[in-house]
Amino acid sequence: MKRLFIKTYGCQMNVYDSARMADLLAPLGYTNADAPEGADMVILNTCHIREKATEKLYSDLGRLRGLKRAKAARGERMLIAVAGCVAQAEGAEIIARESSVDVVVGPQSYHRLPEMIARVARGAGAALETDFAALDKFDALPEEAALQGVSAFLTVQEGCDKFCTFCVVPYTRGAEFSRPVADIEREARRLVDAGAREITLLGQNVNAYRGAGPGGEAWGLARLIRRLARIDGLWRLRYTTSHPRDMSDDLIAAHADEPKLMPYLHLPVQSGSDRILEAMNRGHTADDYRRLVERVRAANPALALSSDFIVGFPGETDADFAGTLNLARDVGYAQAFSFKYSPRPGTPGAAMAKHVPDAVKRERLTRLQAVLGESQARFNRSCVATTMPVLFDRPGTKRDQAVGRSPYLQPVHVEGALEMIGEIHDVRIAEVHSNSLKGEFASTREKVFAN
Ligand code: SAH
Ligand code: SF4
Ligand code: F3S
Repeated sequence: MKRLFIKTYGCQMNVYDSARMADLLAPLGYTNADAPEGADMVILNTCHIREKATEKLYSDLGRLRGLKRAKAARGERMLIAVAGCVAQAEGAEIIARESSVDVVVGPQSYHRLPEMIARVARGAGAALETDFAALDKFDALPEEAALQGVSAFLTVQEGCDKFCTFCVVPYTRGAEFSRPVADIEREARRLVDAGAREITLLGQNVNAYRGAGPGGEAWGLARLIRRLARIDGLWRLRYTTSHPRDMSDDLIAAHADEPKLMPYLHLPVQSGSDRILEAMNRGHTADDYRRLVERVRAANPALALSSDFIVGFPGETDADFAGTLNLARDVGYAQAFSFKYSPRPGTPGAAMAKHVPDAVKRERLTRLQAVLGESQARFNRSCVATTMPVLFDRPGTKRDQAVGRSPYLQPVHVEGALEMIGEIHDVRIAEVHSNSLKGEFASTREKVFAN
């Protein structure tokens, strides 16, 4: 029995990839460990999206070097692998900078991990793979997958052809690629057989999904969702992340009439200034986005939105930033992530003129987060005294308590719910806490959905 510790940074697709790497190594005798201490193999599944994410890798590698040495002093071996988007972007540079690293493997080549580990074990030196061959990867991954839990991720699309000028993803994940419908359906059924009740379909540009249908014709995301919604025992479907330009009519229609599709949409806008949106190469204006939000809300008035924002993109003036604040206020997001622009080497943004000083970025981020925080608090307050279906997915910290998710992804804590993990129950929202809701059972305790 060998112990494997995987640390995951970055987005949900990395979470999915980490689970698949564990599946891949299970036949070699690796079982998951909770900590790097004493592990036989450590994988750092990295993110390159902002500078801070990359810095974290090198500080973690420094710590691992100590653990590896301590293990070597006992005559034992610890393999250190760097996977994910930093591995793709920096490749051999990582081994040059940190000699304790044995394996560097990009997001499209991790199916080669077993042979790479064998190469290292033979004493052939560090192994490096950063090819782009997405089809190979999905075909090579084992059918067997460990249980991800009640709520599971499933990658349906990978890579990005949009080339937003701030973003590294098109370089680290490669060109857009969609998995065939049949493969996705098979994986979804296996997840459901293993206990998943909610599946989040993942893609860097998930609503640009164009996968081969059963007859070879291209299916869009809406058609895929309707197909997966037919799976018995699967109660909830979500998808992320979407680009405003790819919100098709049929996907909007699915929000109106597909009850398993949750009324929650992550639709990053990045900026509310047309000038900045153009410099970012987003391909839409602030008004295009506002109109799109209106259409989605008209299709399903219960739908709530979340977004990502970047402040301090090169050339962003006070007036541009005011446009972002206005858009954030007008839309009224249920939740949102916001970041200071981080120049990424090799992207067009990094080479642009008029970089914004860090102090200005910081001040704008604080102001934007105040608006977004108020909007989120307002949304959460509006849920109080309403009854929502909650899918319980884990035990809470208190005795007999369980935590689940509302349709809007809010964590809901409920006492007396421990036995309901894996089930959906109607819960009355009683209180709003800083990052969660407290619920109680409505007068009846009937299961809305249960096994
Ligand atoms: N594919 C998704 C998400 C990309 S990364 C999309 O198209 O929206 C997630 C978020 O990180 C982005 O939405 C953006 O807000 C942020 N981000 C990406 N590059 C960044 C950079 N260079 N600096 C700061 N934030 C960045
Ligand atoms: Fe990055 Fe833009 Fe592609 Fe999203 S759409 S992954 S932000 S390039
Ligand atoms: Fe990060 Fe790569 Fe995801 S850069 S956000 S791990 S696609």
